Order: sequence, then C-alpha cells, then structure tokens
Amino acid sequence: QRVAILISGSGSNMVALAQSMQGDHPARPCLVLSNDPQAGGLAKAQAMGIPTAVVDHRAFKGDRAGFEAELLKPLRDAQPDLIALAGFMRVLSADFVRRFEGRMLNIHPSLLPKYKGLNTYARAIEAGDAEAGCTVHEVTAELDDGPILGQARVPVLSGDTPATLAARILPLEHQLYPLVLRRVVSGQRDFITLP
Ligand code: GRF
Repeated sequence: QRVAILISGSGSNMVALAQSMQGDHPARPCLVLSNDPQAGGLAKAQAMGIPTAVVDHRAFKGDRAGFEAELLKPLRDAQPDLIALAGFMRVLSADFVRRFEGRMLNIHPSLLPKYKGLNTYARAIEAGDAEAGCTVHEVTAELDDGPILGQARVPVLSGDTPATLAARILPLEHQLYPLVLRRVVSGQRDFITLP
C-alpha cells in the first residue's frame, strides 16, 4: 500500500513512519509533501529516497481553495492509498478531507477529546492533569475530532513545562503512529493504547 505523509516541520513523525515501512511491512511511503519549503523533514525524506513535493501555503494567502487544489496535484500523481498527517499545521477544508474519507490519519499531541487545537501541553499542565499524551485519529471535517485509533499516555510531573512534557510525549508518538498505521493498512481499526 502507498502512504503519503504530509509535514510542516522537522518531520520526526514522518521519519518514524518511513522507517517502520520497511521489510515485510505491507506499506511503503510514496510521497512526503510539505506546505513549508523550509521544513526540515524534506531533507530527511530525500535522504531516505522518498519523493518530496512542496506547496507553499504563503503563495495562496487567504485562498484556501487554491492552496488545496495545488496540494491535490502531487497527491494525484502519487496515488496514495492512505494519507498520514504528521506535524502538518494547516487546517484542511471539509471538501478536501471528504476526498480521503477513511483514508487520512493524524497524530495530535493530547489525549483527545481533550485539548483539540493548539498549545496542548500548556493546557494540560494548567489544568493540573495527572496524565497527558498523544492520539492517532482518522481525519474528518471537524478539527481533531475523528474516530480515535490509538493513544499513548505519560504522567505529567510537577515542575513540567510544555517543553519537558513535549519531550516525554514525542518518543511515544514515534512508537504509536507506526503501530496504528501498520494495523490500519492490515485492515484493523480497533483502538489500541500504550502502555
Ligand atoms: C508533534 O508534537 C506532533 O504531535 C504534532 O506536530 C509536532 C511535530 O511533529 N502533530 P514532527 O516532529 O514534525 O513530526
């Protein structure tokens, strides 16, 4: 199966996913697509021999439809069976998402349904939560709202800052996302949790 991975930044989740899709894995990365030409993940993908493309959202100021129409071109050429959003920081319209209904995943750094949107670590710390974590879910028209496929939990420790909490969660993202992706491409969509 062909997996396209959309990124906006360092692409650490993209690297984890790409590294997992080797050997007897039923899927292979077919494209790494970024909205930011400066995304660090682009060079990492190229070093791994994965085709890359860039559609700079800044060239479509306020024209989301134009941006998404451009985004569709490399995706049409790559013919992915599945799209994995991995640190992709643009909100996609309902129309765009509907084209890939059931075939688009995202990783979000909170225990959804808590803390949809941004600043998830600060919000969990502010709220005095004992736990935090990350969630892989199917992407639907509603932001950070689709069916949850997997979650990973970590303790929130006293004295945690958003940075220390992020550092505790990110390695788990790199375990969870490949695990969920492998199950999805093998036809399993039942919920899993780490640990
Ligand atoms: C991570 O916190 C991830 O949860 C969020 O984007 C951040 C950076 O991801 N979706 P990456 O290093 O670019 O994969």
